Parts: sequence; C-alpha cells; structure tokens
Amino acid sequence: MDRFIEGLPKVELHMHLEGSLEPELMFRLAERNGVTLPYPDIETLRQAYDFHNLQSFLDLYYQGAQVLLTEQDFYDLAWAYLERCAEDNVRHTEIFFDPQTHTSRGVPFKTVIQGISRALKDGEQKLKISSYLILCVLRHLSEAEAIKTLEEALAYKEHFIGVGLDSSEVGNPPANFAGFFDLARQQGLKLVAHAGEEGPADYIWQALDLLQVSRIDHGVNCTEDPKLVQRLADSRVPLTVCPLSNLKLKVVDEMEQHNLLKLLHSGLCVTVNSDDPAYFGGYMTQNFKAIAEALNPDCEEIRQLSLNAVEASFLPDSAKRELVQEILRYQG
Ligand code: ADE
Ligand code: ZN
Repeated sequence: MDRFIEGLPKVELHMHLEGSLEPELMFRLAERNGVTLPYPDIETLRQAYDFHNLQSFLDLYYQGAQVLLTEQDFYDLAWAYLERCAEDNVRHTEIFFDPQTHTSRGVPFKTVIQGISRALKDGEQKLKISSYLILCVLRHLSEAEAIKTLEEALAYKEHFIGVGLDSSEVGNPPANFAGFFDLARQQGLKLVAHAGEEGPADYIWQALDLLQVSRIDHGVNCTEDPKLVQRLADSRVPLTVCPLSNLKLKVVDEMEQHNLLKLLHSGLCVTVNSDDPAYFGGYMTQNFKAIAEALNPDCEEIRQLSLNAVEASFLPDSAKRELVQEILRYQG
C-alpha cells in the first residue's frame, strides 16, 4: 500500500502556503531578515508544535509568518513547497495564501503575490506542476477588512483564481462574510470556505447557501446532520479533508475514528490534503499513508480519493480528463 500511495498521481486542494514554512526555513529567513524568533533553536520550536485546538496552532502559525518580508522570501517558501509536491507526485495544487497576515505588518500585497507567482511559474516550467492561488481572508477580522483586501488584490487578478475563508472558526460564522463573497462572485472568482472543522454543521449550511461556495474546506463535522450529508452526497460539493491536521488539532482523538472513509462510502466527493504540512507532520503522501494505516482502505479507494480531487479541482475539463486517465492507468 505504501508504494501504491507514493507513486499515485495526486492533486492537492487545501494547503496554506504559510503553513508550509518548515522550521529550518523559518530560522534561515529570520537570520536573513534580522528578525528575532522567541525560540533558541529549531528543536525547541518543533517541541512547541503540540497543539490542543485550532487557536493554539494559529497563534504559532501567525508568529512564524513574521519572518516573511521580501519577494524572495515568498518565492523561497513557495518553491520549497513545490519541491515537496514533486517528491509526492502531486501534479496539480490549489494553494491558499493569507495576504492580511502580511499586509498588516507592512509587507505590500505586491511583494507577496509576485514572489509566490514567480515560484509557481518556475514550478510549471521546471517541475511540471500546475497550480492556482486562492486568496484567503481571515474570519477573525472584519468583513470590511476582507473587502478592502479584495479591492487591493483585484489589481493582480490574473494571479489568483478564487477566494477562501480561514482562521478561527468558532464564533466567526460564514454568514458574517456574505457581502465579501457576493463581491468575489461578481468578479467571477471561484469560492471556497473553511467550515465544519471545529465549527458546527450549521456553518457548512451557511457556506453552501449564503456564500454559495463550490467546495467546503474540512467539513468533517457534517456528520452531525444526516440531511447535510445527503445534500453533500447529492450535490457532490467536495470536502477538502486534512487527516493529519484533524489529528494534530484534536478534531479527532485517534486517526482510527476519522470519518473520511465513511463519507467516501456515503458518496461524498471527499479529498485528502495536507493543510499546514510543516506544522502537522506531513505532506500529501504522509496524509494518505496516515489514513491508509488507520482506516485500511483498499487501493481502489485510495485511487478514488485522487480521482475525487481532480473532479473537485478548478482545472479546465481538458486537463481534468488527462489527469483522470493518468490516475486510472496507474498500476502502483
Ligand atoms: N489557517 C491555516 N490553517 C488553518 C486551518 N486548519 N483552519 C483554519 N484556518 C487555518
Ligand atoms: Zn485549512
């Protein structure tokens, strides 16, 4: 099974670029930029990656992002992630980034987007990995701030395909951002939102009906509501599930309890993703291996998860067809 997973062509749809900042690169950028980190060394920093919920992770994630200052920093971050994609046979990836985390520190939006975009272009040419960017707004901030961010970003519209909603979920319902999503929809952008990670099934309903998203990020709490599970199965609105993240943030106590396979068997378009791989212990292959070990799927179920990700992606139909063929031909 491990060999089958390693070679399987993959598509990633839920990965926060700031969450791919490995401690080694964090320390290197801190030194390069004269930023002081509140940890003496890499080992001590890694030991701090012991989370009890989403917020305890987000506090470190926003702190770590403070080493990112120049265009080259964003290039290096994105390039390092793409090299991991190449190792894991990820053929296509749709990457989240959080501009407000950087603009609030005085880093211009242009610096962020140009650094990332240059790396993605090199990734297409040198690694043959296709990619799209999804601009996420932080739900612990106001809708007005989200709209301001989008308005600034529209000058660089050719660089991103859609918008998303992330950060602290509970107490910050999707409904608060309906106006922002209306604006993004009017701009022809794709729409996704984190919902049902720590928050209730009702937040997933809100994301579907009020925000009209075409994918739900996480969504694992849908099982609280059988009508919602039926709706997701009938509509095939995909869930971008992140197994190692769910374990590290205590959304599940044990991987054996994860509902990913149950949701797959109920006909939902579930996919496997890494979320914040530098913080949660692994990239795509590691996430597949973790669920394979805990849930005992067969190779065809693993293949289906990869096919689902192609279906759920924002790729044009011609590129989807090619990837589907490649995944179906794959023998392991
Ligand atoms: N930002 C980065 N990772 C996140 C997650 N798992 N949930 C919400 N916001 C995030
Ligand atoms: Zn996420």
